[in-house]
Amino acid sequence: MSETASPSGRRKDDHLRLAHDQQTAPSRRNDFDDVQILHHALEGLDADQVRLDVPVLDRTWSAPVYINGMTGGTDRTARVNRALAIAARETGIAMASGSVGIALDDPSTAPGFRVIREENPDGFVMANLGIGRSADHALRAVDLLQADALQIHLNAVQETVMPEGTRDFSRWPQALEAVVAASPVPVLVKEVGFGLSRRTLTRLHEMGVQLADVSGVGGTDFARIENARRPGEDYSFLAGHGQSAVCCLLDAPTPAPQLLASGGVRTPLDVIKALALGARAAGVAGAFLKPAYDGDAEHATAVIRGWLSQLTELMALFGAETPAALTGTDLLLRGRVREYCELTGLD
Ligand code: FNR
Repeated sequence: MSETASPSGRRKDDHLRLAHDQQTAPSRRNDFDDVQILHHALEGLDADQVRLDVPVLDRTWSAPVYINGMTGGTDRTARVNRALAIAARETGIAMASGSVGIALDDPSTAPGFRVIREENPDGFVMANLGIGRSADHALRAVDLLQADALQIHLNAVQETVMPEGTRDFSRWPQALEAVVAASPVPVLVKEVGFGLSRRTLTRLHEMGVQLADVSGVGGTDFARIENARRPGEDYSFLAGHGQSAVCCLLDAPTPAPQLLASGGVRTPLDVIKALALGARAAGVAGAFLKPAYDGDAEHATAVIRGWLSQLTELMALFGAETPAALTGTDLLLRGRVREYCELTGLD
């Protein structure tokens, strides 16, 4: 596999490098900072009582945090996938691949994705594919990873900034319906860092989508990444566009698919806040890319182990024996989040 010379392969390597650069940028404030957990000094539990496992559809995940879809398709990104897959196996958390579209178009790149299943034969693995692909591609994506679920990403803002991106989004709903009907495993629809609105979540529910990751703004910013990659016209005005995971969760309709949250989850405290706002689990991309960037599986494993141990401690501190119990947490909403609630009529 030597895909680095192809345009798609170069794009994957660029994404990895530019997303990693964003992790080291100084200002990382986001809407999770406007969610404050009210401290109750006598409500804590014994950490030994805390259970991290969480029901997701008809399965149980061992923890309410997972490695979100990132990469694959080049030698460089295969090393990152290998490190993340080993970390997922060692810590027992679920993991998604990056978009396997490149491997469907060029099978010589498939080993960089297969490594995820090879290193983690019994784990919960999700295959990721962009919206707009056929039902046949969806089946091939699931088959490639022997996947337990299929992540379909909606990325209209990213496509708009990409010079080679599509400008025709009109057939996405029909394409998604066909994939949902054909998929042998549950379909999880996600954004890539711009958020899923109330209206979008309702449409997904009506299409029979059972699981959605709101993936909001405030973490890795693909408008900035694509803008940095493109020559010529400047699209930097789209940086920061979209809704945060916090606002998406607050604004989520009922009924809706089961909700996962990602986008700017920087610490175990952000995971707790996402769960308190109704997410089943929180997805982490950029913050887990950081330790896996050089292919260091031990470092990635140690970081994720640390998160799971801190999650347990925080749940004891906040008096929640299970992730579901966190939905009873007293929260104060400040700043931009409060303004969002006021403007959208949420109280
Ligand atoms: C991503 N993301 C992503 N999402 C997706 O559905 N398919 C993909 O192929 C990719 N590729 C990708 C590459 C890299 C290097 C990163 C960091 C991220 C988006 C990711 O799953 C997530 O939605 C956003 O990154 C927001 O989460 P974080 O990074 O703020 O935790």
